[in-house]
Formats: sequence, structure tokens, C-alpha cells
Amino acid sequence: MTKPVLLMTRRFPDAVEARAQRDYVTIPNPADTAMESAAIVAAARQSGAEGILCAAGDAMGAATLAALPESVRVIATFSVGTDHIDLGAAKARGIAVTNTPDVLSVATAEIAFLLILAAARRGGEAERLLRARQWTGWAPTQLMGVTLEGKRLGILGMGRIGQALARMARGFGMEIHYRNRNRLPAEEEQGAIYHDSDKGFLRAIDVLSMHIPGGAATRHWLDAERIAWLKRGAIVVNTGRGTTVDDAALCAALHSGHLRAAGLDVFEGEPRIFEGYHTAPNTVLLPHLGSATVETRDAMGFRCLDNLDAVLLRGEAPLHPVA
Ligand code: DGY
Repeated sequence: MTKPVLLMTRRFPDAVEARAQRDYVTIPNPADTAMESAAIVAAARQSGAEGILCAAGDAMGAATLAALPESVRVIATFSVGTDHIDLGAAKARGIAVTNTPDVLSVATAEIAFLLILAAARRGGEAERLLRARQWTGWAPTQLMGVTLEGKRLGILGMGRIGQALARMARGFGMEIHYRNRNRLPAEEEQGAIYHDSDKGFLRAIDVLSMHIPGGAATRHWLDAERIAWLKRGAIVVNTGRGTTVDDAALCAALHSGHLRAAGLDVFEGEPRIFEGYHTAPNTVLLPHLGSATVETRDAMGFRCLDNLDAVLLRGEAPLHPVA
């Protein structure tokens, strides 16, 4: 049987590459950087690709989708987020789109908790002090943070990642508050408190952890008005999508002292980072590491291949369709 042609827009983990090469004629992107629309279209046309294995950051908007050759039947994205893909345009072209739910929930929740701890205990500032060779010795009032035990963690978007974070935070003695499309009785049985308004939610909490998808509907959800509803001294953490935060408003609140700290793993327009974050006091900044564990990245790749196999090798429906 002839192997289907698979365009791989990035360099993926070795085990994922090996399995892809076993079952497909793979078209690699040796540059291993996010691909522009023209490059994706050219590679798909030249190779007659039937499947595309892409990642967040690749330009899979309406223009790309419209220009892809007829041969393309499925796009598997190596991410749970799909805001880089125009799902309507894919549907119009009859191209299936799949993502990688479940397998990255714990890894991403771990990074959220890392940021919560680092922001609360001033881990970023402390590390920078030592690296600048400016530590002059232990002092009773040096770099005092806040204790997490007994504090209220507000989880915005209580999906799989939010629920994994809630499990971790309960172990630290935090009280869980959440804002979500629907109520989750199983979480409430464990003490989580549901809020039916943004204002009530933001006013109640000490730490905000954001887990909402990107896209037009959530753009700059955390704006100056909502930041003002947070308590003085609150902490903001974002491991979802950078577009959900108004960077200028968040930086202003960090500089004014209204907010104690922010921990950010995602940025609007990344890898570019809003300049104010470099100079704002007590920011902890990570380069989009949410799912970056060996186990998780392998599992994400295998999930992509399971979906591609279903469509391209067996002629079946994809396992994790998003469009
Ligand atoms: C995801 O899976 O959406 C992560 O943010 C990686 O892109």
C-alpha cells in the first residue's frame, strides 16, 4: 500500500517522528520554527500532502486553508488550543481538524502551579537577585511573599486543566473558586465555589489562574475594568492564551502595586513579549512551557498520529475532531 503524504510543520519528539516516518511519507520542516502561510501552502502543494501535522503558532488561518490543495483531508494540531486554525474555513473545505485533549492537562496545571508558587513566593525576583550577584545575606524582611495556605484560588475556565490545578491546590490548603460555562457538581462536592458573575468571582479571590481559550470572544478578557475588581495584592497567572490579557492594563496594575505579582507562560504575539513585563516588579515569565514534559509531548504526538491514522490509513472518522 502506498503511504500517505504527511506534511510536518515542526520537528516533533523522536518517538513521534519515528512512528510518522514508519507509516507516512513525511515532509519535514527542517527550520523547526512556526511556518508562515505561504510556506505551508507551497509545501502542501509540492508534496501533494493528504495530512498536515502542525502546531500552535503555525499560520492556519482562512487564507492558508483556502489555498491548500484538494489533497489535504485532515489537519492534526499538536495542541489542545485551536485558535491558530480557522475552523470555519476548514469545515468549508471539508478538511477535518483534530487536537490533543486530556494528555496535557496535568503538565499544564503543573506549570500553572509553578507560576502561582513562584509569584506568591517571589521566586523570579529571588533568582534574578542571585544571578546578578547582589545577594548580601539573609535578612528578616527580605523578599517576603505570601503564604498560599488558606488563600482563595480563582480558576477561570474549569475544564480538564482547571480541574487538575484544583486537585493540586487543594493539597496546598487553598480554597477553590471557579468561573465556568457550566456548574460542576463533582467539584462543588469537594468544596469548590461557583461564581455566576465575573465581578463577584474576581472580587472574591486572591489568586486568578486563567484557562480560557484564545480567539475573538475572549480577546483581552482581563482588561483594566476586571483588573480593578481584583483585590489589592492579588496575583494573576495565565497558562491559557496570551490574547486573553490586555498587557498594558496588567503591566499598569503591576507597576502601580494594585497587583502583587503575575506569572505568565503565554503572550499575545509571542515570542515577542510586551516590553512592560521586563520592567514590571515581580513577574515570572516562561516561554510557553505548559505541555513541555517528555511524557506529555510524546503523548500529544501519538494522539495526533492516532487521529491521522484513523482518517488517512483506515478511512475512518477522526478520534478527536474539533471541526
Ligand atoms: C496547547 O496545547 O494549546 C498549548 O498551548 C501548546 O500550544
